Amino acid sequence: MKVQGKKYRTIWFENNIVKIIDQTKLPHQFVVKDLKTIVDVIDAIKTMEVRGAPLIGAAAAYGLVLSIIENEDYFFLKKSSENLIASRPTAINLKWAVDRMMNKLSGVNSVEILKIALEEAKTIVEEDVEFCKKIGMNGLRIIEDIANKKKDTVNILTHCNAGWLATIDWGTATSPIYQAHKKGIKVHVWVDETRPRNQGANLTSYELNEEGIPNTIIADNTGGILMQKGQVDMCIVGTDRTLSNGYVCNKIGTYLKALAAKDNNVPFYVALPSSTIDWSIKDPKDIPIEEREPTELSHIEGLDKDNKFQKVLIYPQKSKVLNLAFDITPAKLITGLITEKGICKASEKGLKELFK
Ligand code: MRU
Repeated sequence: MKVQGKKYRTIWFENNIVKIIDQTKLPHQFVVKDLKTIVDVIDAIKTMEVRGAPLIGAAAAYGLVLSIIENEDYFFLKKSSENLIASRPTAINLKWAVDRMMNKLSGVNSVEILKIALEEAKTIVEEDVEFCKKIGMNGLRIIEDIANKKKDTVNILTHCNAGWLATIDWGTATSPIYQAHKKGIKVHVWVDETRPRNQGANLTSYELNEEGIPNTIIADNTGGILMQKGQVDMCIVGTDRTLSNGYVCNKIGTYLKALAAKDNNVPFYVALPSSTIDWSIKDPKDIPIEEREPTELSHIEGLDKDNKFQKVLIYPQKSKVLNLAFDITPAKLITGLITEKGICKASEKGLKELFK
């Protein structure tokens, strides 16, 4: 997608260096950062310079390539893979990508290992681009239907950033929106700010602006009243891990938005590539929910009047803080899952019909 009219992807490999867009600097600065070692990649994932389920999967795949360049020893690679998986536990794409790379590399000799690792990492990246594009084409049908009935702008609410910045290109939740816009359908996006890290305001609104898509940032608590007033035609969100029974784990606050949508008969869709499906867990309680630094809540960062980055404390110094990064939305609140293979019910039957 575009930044100031120029096409970018979120990650690429050049001269044995992994290039990323540093998302901690957006929307104020557009910085391309070099990751040269496996430790650089793990740090970038932990600090969320790269974030979003599909993108951290791709970053992990390239991280293993850097690990091989640094040290061909199998035990070094194994340790790298374990450290990568531990760096952000909730999004399943990370483990999925690491497992896929390690399976591909198992038994490969040292002459070929780097070439094969790089090829597989690139395949993971290209596949994600293709899948996200297909999610867009499939989700477009839903937006088109609403537009045809309504004969007016379609208002779509989204949470966090499941846009192209969270993937390689297109995004998941945003992909149908980009396709609709390309087709000339009038869309407007309500962008949940998404405290504490504000991925909605900082990233989703930013990327929609760059693509010329009308959008309005709202506080996370505003969606409910907008739905009551009939100002939301549908919700589309992303997911960090979708269970085979259709339960969806996504950015904290997604569940409350799904409850509000149900109460107001607003269709609530989740967009995902198949790499986000966890076929191994049945009980949502078994999903590891990432708990992050309290300072993400207690401090806020932005530009001061001299255009300098400042981080300031906004809470009472003595207050305790709990910062859970994800929540779980039960399948019964989800209208449908938009995948690269089509749209299905959020259920075991629905997912199996498409994927097994
Ligand atoms: O903590 P983040 O910013 O990595 O969380 C991202 C999300 O919750 C996205 O909705 C999810 O990863 C899907 S991205 C296509």
